[in-house]
Amino acid sequence: MPTDPSVVAEQAGMIAAAWSPADAPASWALTAAQFEALRDDCELLALAATIPADRLPPLLFTAAATFLVLERSPAPLRNRFPRLGELQPPVDGRFKDAYRRFCLDHGDRLLALCAEHRYQMNEVGRCAELLPALAPAIADGRPLVLVDIGTGAGLALQLDRYRYVFDGPGARKSTVGEERASVVIETEVRGSRAVPLPPAPPRIAERIGIDIEPLDLGDGGVRDWLYACIPQEIGAVNRFHRAAQVALEHPARMVRGDACAVLPEVLASIPDDAIVCLIDSYVHVFFEPEELRRFRALVDEAGASRDLDWISLDPLVPMGDAATDTVIGVPAPSALLERQRRGAVFGALARVSYRGGERLEAVLGFAHPGAAWIEWL
Ligand SMILES: C[S@@+](CC[C@H](N)C(=O)[O-])C[C@H]1O[C@@H](n2cnc3c(N)ncnc32)[C@H](O)[C@@H]1O
Repeated sequence: MPTDPSVVAEQAGMIAAAWSPADAPASWALTAAQFEALRDDCELLALAATIPADRLPPLLFTAAATFLVLERSPAPLRNRFPRLGELQPPVDGRFKDAYRRFCLDHGDRLLALCAEHRYQMNEVGRCAELLPALAPAIADGRPLVLVDIGTGAGLALQLDRYRYVFDGPGARKSTVGEERASVVIETEVRGSRAVPLPPAPPRIAERIGIDIEPLDLGDGGVRDWLYACIPQEIGAVNRFHRAAQVALEHPARMVRGDACAVLPEVLASIPDDAIVCLIDSYVHVFFEPEELRRFRALVDEAGASRDLDWISLDPLVPMGDAATDTVIGVPAPSALLERQRRGAVFGALARVSYRGGERLEAVLGFAHPGAAWIEWL
């Protein structure tokens, strides 16, 4: 079913504000300009509104537009988009008109791309947000098995192979990970609390990715589409390319299937002496309420008989102004609800741990959807 254009406009405006708020570095201006061009133009909205709501119209439309700009390389529009290893080009006052014209001229192809693909953004930067939540499991010392739910191309499964730099106005600069790592994720620490970082990334005994549609980075077409789903910010673009290379060099076990359907068999395949860390970023927020309840129940059931952590980095649910909870089922602290009401968009970092059958849950912090910043609660 098509989507109401006013809903697409509202979502596009929220996404622009989330990725590129007023205090964002200038390199995020292109991302904001793409979503604002969609929000502000009734012809673009009419095109995007033909996409069913469950396929995330503003995000899918913008990914398809990026894909076409990169494929067709129209001058001078292409020069406003970043190129690997170069500086982010500035966005000038003529961008929105040129972008709008290009999208309208290629409307049919654009919608065909939207029909062929899902929006599948794989943001490796989110590993910087998952890392501090892994600290207790890292300190535990037992073999750690990492299970990434909704893994996409499996970039988070390699989180021990990246280097992390945390810095910020009130924070001491801290680094974690291999000095020579090709992927370096830099995150600003906000707020008054220090982020409790582990001294080193985990030593991973086994890595398993679960996805309803796992993505094969060895396929050039898949890579090009994933690249178009990345916000066109040079940091995100460089990170994606390097992380894709790491994932290609270190293939991990991938399980195709719905998370609720395959989780029990995946857990049954993991030795009892391992500590299991289920991670999910920007996956469970898209689950239907019943599916989310089922997933929580499956985790509870598994946690009764083995030690495990479920670490989630997801927007609050239900999505939008009515949000009350984190996806693990813990009510969101009022500080987060208040921020959300003021229009801030973030991923809430939450963890539920099971040790010897005892359940412990916590909302740990919140963070920018692309790892630009993190704030600890
Ligand atoms: C928005 S992407 C997030 C990818 C990655 N976790 C990240 O943060 O970069 C959501 C991913 O979840 C997968 N997914 C959606 N529903 C799923 C389900 N029911 N079971 C397993 N995977 C699912 C999608 O195929 C997609 O790869």
